[in-house]
Amino acid sequence: MDNSQNERKTMIHVSINGREYEVPAGSTMVQAMWYTGHEVIHGIGCLGGVCGACATVYRIKGDFRLRNALACQTLVQEGMSFSMLDSYPIQRAHYDVATLSDPKEELFTFYPESATCRNCNACTEVCPQGIDVRDSVWRANFGDFKAVADLTMSCVMCGLCVSRCIAEMAPHEIALYARRAYGAKELPFPANLRARLDEIKGGTFSREMDRLLSLSPDELKKECEVKS
Ligand code: SF4
Ligand code: SF4
Ligand code: FES
Repeated sequence: MDNSQNERKTMIHVSINGREYEVPAGSTMVQAMWYTGHEVIHGIGCLGGVCGACATVYRIKGDFRLRNALACQTLVQEGMSFSMLDSYPIQRAHYDVATLSDPKEELFTFYPESATCRNCNACTEVCPQGIDVRDSVWRANFGDFKAVADLTMSCVMCGLCVSRCIAEMAPHEIALYARRAYGAKELPFPANLRARLDEIKGGTFSREMDRLLSLSPDELKKECEVKS
């Protein structure tokens, strides 16, 4: 068997955005898109499962279930059909966390839908990070923002939980609000951050900052070169 036959044996059939392709087995969904000439500019960030940009919806042949995944972290399978979600529209509240006076009550001002959770657990089932998203929504509703922060620390903001929520809320934004409020209102101000802010205010770094600001782009590039 020559090399080209070996190579053929490793190809599998997938459908991307409704069109059929053959792609190398062992590719991630992102690699399969690149292989088939898709210009994937949006929806790609870290390629490491961290930025949450590559939310994707897919089905496996013969399985009725609609599944979701991060495309950079998911290998293609024979008969898989998938489409990347460019972005999922959400209602994002605007607030200044520093001015919140009663964050637990104000949650229902910014995200009133939070109280309408129907406990279906679809958000938890879809989460690629294995977060108990349903529980985080309930903890937020009961004002336990510390528990929300602990539960959702690994959220990559991919928005897949939004795509499945039958109460049409954005659980990851509710969790983000709770984490912010917890950090700003419940935790003590970090001592090392306070010390650094005092140093900045005291002018400790002013001379070096002024020097950097006076450099030309070429001089700045040189400054950034790793010194051997
Ligand atoms: S909680 Fe939602 S946004 Fe965060 S990782 Fe899970 S599915 Fe993605
Ligand atoms: S998907 Fe929506 S309604 Fe269902 S448990 Fe999660 S937050 Fe609640
Ligand atoms: S590209 Fe960042 S999570 Fe997939």
